[in-house]
Amino acid sequence: MATLFDTRQFVGECRDAVSANHAVAATRAVVREAVRALASGVAALPPLDSFYARHGGGLLLGHDRTLFEDDTVTVAVVETEPGHLQPPHDHSMCAVIGVFEGGERNRFYRRTGSRARLATRRVVRPAEVIALRERTVHAISAEADERCRALHVYLGPLGSRPRSLFHPETGAEEPFDFDTYLYYVRAA
Ligand SMILES: [Fe+2]
Repeated sequence: MATLFDTRQFVGECRDAVSANHAVAATRAVVREAVRALASGVAALPPLDSFYARHGGGLLLGHDRTLFEDDTVTVAVVETEPGHLQPPHDHSMCAVIGVFEGGERNRFYRRTGSRARLATRRVVRPAEVIALRERTVHAISAEADERCRALHVYLGPLGSRPRSLFHPETGAEEPFDFDTYLYYVRAA
């Protein structure tokens, strides 16, 4: 029988990790342990109220729930529904992503001037963890026909830090705006 995943403890471990000497490596270790437990069924997420639903064009893209945010770290559970390719964006801070259900397809872009062009792809699968640099540009979608669930930890205040969004066809950079983000969603 799975034990309930302790979100408060996880947030505490993330807060400690981002103030460690090797913050990204420390955060990766915390997220790796968490998604291993969740992916294997040793632990299960408790019901999370107040999910923020991401809708684009009337379609449900998924749900985001921010467990914690301050000036040093943002901790979120991100659910991604299949069928939608979300637009390229950066975070203006390092990020650690760990998947515990389904597959999160990440497209990575190369920045040239004020544009981004598709460079590589990687599907992050349950119990896998990746780290993104401050200027990394990525776009996510759910792999195959499965919902994806992941822990996303950002090493800073994601909701308030200015960052960039990129047009899905031209790759042109513009200031991040959530309504525009939804407008730029395409069929996967
Ligand atoms: Fe992202």
